[in-house]
Amino acid sequence: MDTITPEPRPAWIAGHAEQGEGTLVVTHPFDGSEVATVAVPGAEQVERAVAAAAAVAAEFRRAPAHSRAAALEHVSRGLAARADEIAEVITAENGKPLRWAEAEVSRAISVFRIAAEEARRFNGEMQRLDSDPAGEERLALVTRVPRGPVLGIAPFNFPLNLVAHKVAPALAVGAPIVIKPAPRTPLSALILGEILAETDLPEGAFSVLPLGNEETAGLVRDPRLPVVSFTGSGPVGWSLTDAAPRKHVVLELGGNAAAVVLADWPDLEGAAERIATFGNYQAGQSCIAVQRVIVEREIAGEFLPKLEAAVRGQATGDPYDTTVSVGPVVDEAAAERVVSWVDEAVQAGATLLVGGARDGATVQPTLLADVPASAKVWAEEVFGPVLAVSVVDSAQDAFAAVNDSDYGLQAGIFTRDVRLAFEAAATLDVGGVIVGDVPSYRADQMPYGGVKGSGVGREGVLPAMRDLTVERVTVLTGVPL
Ligand code: SIN
Repeated sequence: MDTITPEPRPAWIAGHAEQGEGTLVVTHPFDGSEVATVAVPGAEQVERAVAAAAAVAAEFRRAPAHSRAAALEHVSRGLAARADEIAEVITAENGKPLRWAEAEVSRAISVFRIAAEEARRFNGEMQRLDSDPAGEERLALVTRVPRGPVLGIAPFNFPLNLVAHKVAPALAVGAPIVIKPAPRTPLSALILGEILAETDLPEGAFSVLPLGNEETAGLVRDPRLPVVSFTGSGPVGWSLTDAAPRKHVVLELGGNAAAVVLADWPDLEGAAERIATFGNYQAGQSCIAVQRVIVEREIAGEFLPKLEAAVRGQATGDPYDTTVSVGPVVDEAAAERVVSWVDEAVQAGATLLVGGARDGATVQPTLLADVPASAKVWAEEVFGPVLAVSVVDSAQDAFAAVNDSDYGLQAGIFTRDVRLAFEAAATLDVGGVIVGDVPSYRADQMPYGGVKGSGVGREGVLPAMRDLTVERVTVLTGVPL
């Protein structure tokens, strides 16, 4: 597809398309070819975007629910109408195979549809206060009001859907949003800006600012944006809370997600396929991609050859080729880092079963066994197509190994034993336990977020709407109850 346009792709300043003071060039991670040039707004334009968000906040939060829902429905339909084009753009800017780009667009369509539904039923509650003598004839109405305009900072790995997860809930509750897509992957967010601009949202309700990471610091500190919703790496995320300690900061950070295969699981081939697929989807660049594989000893001898075969079956190559499962990581420097972590693990005693090398930005799907717990591929977040296996003696040892991590986003437990499933849910320090599947399962309407180094706060449309708002109590006095 031809993604190069005569003029740089415009930024969206308070809902209007504008050229910027500078430009940035987006390249295709697979071969480094130029994909598009994008307008980078200057300081005056950024100021106008923030001022407009602050100016419209009071009006927007009182906009009728049906009007916010209509705008969100329009976006959902607009994304659906342009789904093929947007999927190709995601593949061009991010390098993920087309099938995953298509899946991402269809998820974003759902996110806006769900937000429209939730906007219509985002009600408060009534609380009778006469449970104590001082509250006789008093009734509280508890509603939720936006904390204020939101600064959304999105990552490169889901350039549309993780933008959608910030924009849709904000608009659903009537909070203006200034969204900063990742500088490597701003194109699908800018298309989203085009579709948002077709709605009746008031001026200032949204801006899409393709800024470099350095230019974002001022926005993080700006008191007119009291909420910062960030998805990305841990060091950057935690530095935001340090930079803006009085703001409401939502952090969706990384993880080193574990898939646990317990001895009772009847379909080892199926588990191996799921783990190989979701260790390598998007070249491992998902915060819930499988990284650690923890297997009960009783079945390890049977399971590991199946996993090895499934990893070998993951075809690498051009992400536009529909037979390809694993495309490039985001750039060559990332590929080099991933391979150096694999080398480090091997030097520390790990056994390399598959892969371990790279060609440009494409890293071979890699499987390591006997990995020391201190190796980076086990202890840190690889964000590459690497699976590290550990064999344990019992379900309890497996759960302890899952918890032996600085992160806690999601875990997947392959078991049919209900008691063990509940034990996992009760024991594991993670935001989500997926029973009978990989940790990479995410439904866009469910609460999503981590504990420990994986962040604070929850996304998922309704949980994010709650997170972006605070309770307001209106007490009625002299009410006959
Ligand atoms: C993430 O990488 O945190 C998002 C995963 C997803 O939305 O599936």
